[in-house]
Amino acid sequence: MRPEAAVIDHAVALLQAGELVAFPTETVYGLGADAANPAAVGRIFAAKGRPADHPLIVHLPADGYLDNWATDIPRQAWELTEAFWPGPLTLILRRARGVPTAVTGGQETIGLRVPAHPLALALLRAFAEAGGGLGGLCGVAAPSANRFGRISPTEAAHVRAELGDSVRLILDGGRCPVGIESTIVDLSRGAGEVPRVLRPGAITPEQIATVIGRLPEVGCQPRSATAEVVPRVPGALAAHYAPVTPMRLLPATEIARLADTPAAGRSCAVLCHSQMLAGAAALLVRRLPADPSHYAHELYAALRQLDHSGADLILVEDVPSTAAWSAIADRLQRAASGAGGIGKCLPEA
Ligand code: TXA
Ligand code: MG
Repeated sequence: MRPEAAVIDHAVALLQAGELVAFPTETVYGLGADAANPAAVGRIFAAKGRPADHPLIVHLPADGYLDNWATDIPRQAWELTEAFWPGPLTLILRRARGVPTAVTGGQETIGLRVPAHPLALALLRAFAEAGGGLGGLCGVAAPSANRFGRISPTEAAHVRAELGDSVRLILDGGRCPVGIESTIVDLSRGAGEVPRVLRPGAITPEQIATVIGRLPEVGCQPRSATAEVVPRVPGALAAHYAPVTPMRLLPATEIARLADTPAAGRSCAVLCHSQMLAGAAALLVRRLPADPSHYAHELYAALRQLDHSGADLILVEDVPSTAAWSAIADRLQRAASGAGGIGKCLPEA
């Protein structure tokens, strides 16, 4: 038996016993549990310190398992699964009858995706072959494997640092290739309604439009006062994905000025992508690649490094306001809102 097969078997046994297993996906590491087992799902909320009314994404081995979890699945959903699964796309659909509400945060909708990482797929397939957990539903609930509101982990060591011993096993797949969380598309309003992107990610509205023939709406405002189902996306809270150190998003020229003339006793760490800041007078300067997919791949590990640098303030260079950078801009804005403590106001630099 290959060592990988032995560790997957061990992971499946833990999931079947209602324990937590962290695993890599192509986006970020997930904290997994049998999605049909309310006690196991409860352990996820406890380990993350996440409020129990925040719904989780259920990970499936293939789109053939969608019917176990969702009902009234519109044609556009199948078109999107065909085009993008396995991959960094989560669909919000109407929850099938019999799906425990623990995993949906009490909502009538459910988030579902098939991840594209080989270790994640090996785990999900082996879990299904071993019976698929309670009720044979074959879904693994997995939020990002970080404490609530904090930076998502993109390496196994980040998961250990975030969650310590509360997770029994961490499957180590190295650095996650995409590096930011999946695009979330709400299709729960059924056929004929315009899909809505609730969280931007590597799969863009334009790519979605090429598949379904129209641009999705973007943003997470409630759709109408009479809407029957209004999904909530805590990932869309202003304060999220945040370092502990206060963080500000600024143009490069402003960062150069601040880093060179620090306020009395205040040290800065800098995250940038343009050449001009490479030599900024800061405690630490991390320059990331200037193209969005390579930038995303390194972003969260770099933010962690800057957070641990001992600096009093993290200065992040604004990213271009183009469609290709919009998911990164979204995460940086939320990180800046949440840095230094969720909801806390940032000091002026
Ligand atoms: O890339 C990802 O999506 C990663 C990996 C591990 O798959 N997962 C992830 O999970 O980012 P989490 O829980 O950290 O973020 C999932 C987001 C949350 O903001 C949650 O509110 C939203 O998805 N969500 C889940 N189910 C939902 C539902 N039924 N309606 C609306 N939003 C939902
Ligand atoms: Mg998360």
